[in-house]
Amino acid sequence: MRQRRVSVGPAAGRPGYDDQIVASVIRPAPAVTARVPAKVNLQLAVGPARTDGYHSLVTVYHAVSLYDEVTVRPAAETTVAVAGEGAWHVPTDQSNLACRAVSVLAKAVGLNVEQSSVRIDIRKRIPVAAGLAGGSADAAATLVACNELWHSGLSTDELVDLAAEVGSDVPFAILGGTAVGTGRGERLTQALVAGTYHWALAFSDSGLSTKEVYATCDRLRAARVRRGGHAASGTADAQPGSAASAAPAASAAPAASAAPAASAAPGGRAAPAARSARVGRVGPAGPSGSAAPVAEPELSHPLMTALRSGDPARVGPLLSNDLQPEALSLRPELRRALAAGLEHGALGAVVSGSGPTCAFLASDAPHARDLAVALTSAGVCRAAARASGPAPGALLVGGGPLA
Ligand code: C5P
Repeated sequence: MRQRRVSVGPAAGRPGYDDQIVASVIRPAPAVTARVPAKVNLQLAVGPARTDGYHSLVTVYHAVSLYDEVTVRPAAETTVAVAGEGAWHVPTDQSNLACRAVSVLAKAVGLNVEQSSVRIDIRKRIPVAAGLAGGSADAAATLVACNELWHSGLSTDELVDLAAEVGSDVPFAILGGTAVGTGRGERLTQALVAGTYHWALAFSDSGLSTKEVYATCDRLRAARVRRGGHAASGTADAQPGSAASAAPAASAAPAASAAPAASAAPGGRAAPAARSARVGRVGPAGPSGSAAPVAEPELSHPLMTALRSGDPARVGPLLSNDLQPEALSLRPELRRALAAGLEHGALGAVVSGSGPTCAFLASDAPHARDLAVALTSAGVCRAAARASGPAPGALLVGGGPLA
């Protein structure tokens, strides 16, 4: 709290103190709160590793109604306090993406450290390191909240541009809805989507490092190439919806596919034949020193058509994630979760982003609730929640955290 001593009563300049009342007025520091959604990836096609260490990708982001809240208020120095879901796993030093968001915005609007120091209070509902972009969401909310606190007046488009400097998923957390991400995920095009989609999200005991999952992806691809296969070709047993599963949603995606990479195998990567259409040689070098050929990622047009139809039964079989085999190799127990969801009638099941959260598409809200209950009862996850999408991006919610 900032205290300011002010004099009230007789006009200033009058001699003597006897007729002055000196009062201490407590002025609460202004506080701004923003609410921000989690995301799931309806498609995640991962291409070659780039020279900057990132992978080129095509992804379909979908914001869901699971929210964090971030409150910022002026302070002597920038600090972070975290409460709620998995709070103890979140760094509270300058490595927190929210701190990076503060310095990126301050620099952009010409504020020095003193002028831009804030206390950041993060209230988490989005699990940490879960493939739901919780850290990116908090950074996005911090940008939106500081923009308001400092009266910076940046537009959403300007904030989205700045967000890319903070992290690959941060721009989408500002935008929300459903959007196609390219580049390393930061270049966005809003997608046309009809209807509301209902999800059950199965959370794991502990998180996965995005960096580690991408590194595993590189290793597995290099190993496939050494075995004489294609770097981007998946293994059938890596897909929950492969022949190993009898669940209807696990059957093959509709055969009609205009775009090569669009014939996604259910719940997993695009079919190898399709992905061989555009092969680059930018992958990580194998022991022989030769680069692994990796297909350039491509958007699933059948998925986009299905999303425009508003029919979850059409969308479910088209969910795909190139990082799923990697997440499953690091967390084999996720197979059980994916299979359990399909057994309970999920229209589609996929690991979200780099995992380990599994997302299950339901036919409607009651089905999503039933799925969440069934997944929890089956003991295949730490907890499950239901959520719907598309949800709006980071939004101001008032002067303090919600109760
Ligand atoms: O951008 P962000 O900080 O969220 O990325 C975390 C890590 O995930 C990166 O350091 C990189 O190792 C990996 N990554 C990647 N390619 C992407 C996005 C993330 O390799 N397109």
